[in-house]
Amino acid sequence: MSINPLFTALFRVGTLRRLILSKAEMLLARRLRVFGVPLLSVEKQLFYRVRPAGRLTGRWRVPGDKSISHRSIMLGAIAEGITEVSGFLEGEDSLATLRAFRDLGVAIEGPQAGEVRIQGVGLRGLRAAKAALDLGNSGTSMRLLTGLLAGQGFASTLIGDASLSRRPMRRVTEPLARMGARIGTSEQGTAPLCLAPAERLEGIDYAMPVPSAQVKSCLLLAGLYAEGRTCVEEPAPTRDHTERMLEAFGKTVERRGNRVCVRGGGGLRACRIEIPADISSAAFFLVGASIAEGSDLTLEHVGINPTRIGVINILRAMGADIEVLNSRQAGGEPVGDLRVRSAPLRGIPIPADQVPLAIDEFPALFIAAACAEGETLLRGAEELRVKESDRIQVMAEGLQRLGIEAEPLPDGIRIRGGSLGAGAVQSHGDHRIAMAFAMGALGAGGAVEIADCANVNTSFPGFVGLARGAGLNIEEQWA
Ligand code: S3P
Repeated sequence: MSINPLFTALFRVGTLRRLILSKAEMLLARRLRVFGVPLLSVEKQLFYRVRPAGRLTGRWRVPGDKSISHRSIMLGAIAEGITEVSGFLEGEDSLATLRAFRDLGVAIEGPQAGEVRIQGVGLRGLRAAKAALDLGNSGTSMRLLTGLLAGQGFASTLIGDASLSRRPMRRVTEPLARMGARIGTSEQGTAPLCLAPAERLEGIDYAMPVPSAQVKSCLLLAGLYAEGRTCVEEPAPTRDHTERMLEAFGKTVERRGNRVCVRGGGGLRACRIEIPADISSAAFFLVGASIAEGSDLTLEHVGINPTRIGVINILRAMGADIEVLNSRQAGGEPVGDLRVRSAPLRGIPIPADQVPLAIDEFPALFIAAACAEGETLLRGAEELRVKESDRIQVMAEGLQRLGIEAEPLPDGIRIRGGSLGAGAVQSHGDHRIAMAFAMGALGAGGAVEIADCANVNTSFPGFVGLARGAGLNIEEQWA
């Protein structure tokens, strides 16, 4: 909400202090203009209204993998030669990365129907951007770019939206500082991030305190510009798309157990990248089809990298009927078609080793837990509190509003399965919360209204159309 400064001034001097705006007065204030500027402007919000009737059927392909899309632009930009990408996710997050590299002087054609052509400028060919790089809602763009830009000979400033500006960045700026980078943050260790031109980076050996593919990838990208070897040790396996893609670009990556190392210098060779459909987007349909009786749905060409399949493992342990068909390799990543049929689910203690492998899928998995018989307990997942929203708190509140017993814990949640009722929930602008509750309506006794859904476009453009085609009774409304 933004308020005309004149209105604020009048309010401050007391002229309007006693005035309490009723709904009608708010409407009037929105229409009135002072010197052409609306007296009060309230931004519109996107709501989903989902009715419970329906089952999910058909064969569908969800959009391209977000993590791999980001990396294809980043590595394509600093490679020698032309990188051609297919299956690129045309969502706001990966587009923020694409725009950032254009601002850094890279010629990029597309995206058009998922095709992108990047004219690589080589490891040392990026140029200073004229303004701050705005990465919107995208944590992956900000953390990986910080690593990639930390070793450049020019300064950069990275900014993001309100949610991204609250997310912790010391997890990348501290190890980068040990490599010799100079990066300013807010007092809370958040964006804006101000990167000074680097004189020289030095490789480090870093044991990550929390499993994070973003931190690992950030340091490996910085390592390309550092002297000597940069090694990262992870406490548990996390997605390895950066390692796989560096190899596809001809870079040697040493991987032994939970350690991964790269050497600075040497160039990357452009290549073709085929991006599979995003398992994190498929997850909503895996849950929706599991809970909506009579469903039989196939999701085509989904990335099933072993570091991403926690959602399949957890749902199967809950009793879900998911088959992986036609497993194959595409662009250095394993893919398959996922066939899911509805099945009764039961609550489980979620195995600790699956947490990093399903880190983005918990909003959807909590919906599965709410529709399962018995209790589901998640621990060791404090990271969920610092995602696009505090996903433990926001999901617990939403589930409670729909009549489910959900107890937030510092590092997880306890959910007792029951019957979801009708009601209105808040997504707090978190794309995955919005889509999870939309699927929840398939198991609910009445309509579910979800507020603040515009950010679904960050990861899943076309979600509403695809979900409707598959059988979800969903309507959108701006209000
Ligand atoms: C991502 C890694 C994960 C994930 C995020 C994408 C990536 O974050 O939650 O959506 O592309 O590397 P963390 O590494 O912080 O767990």
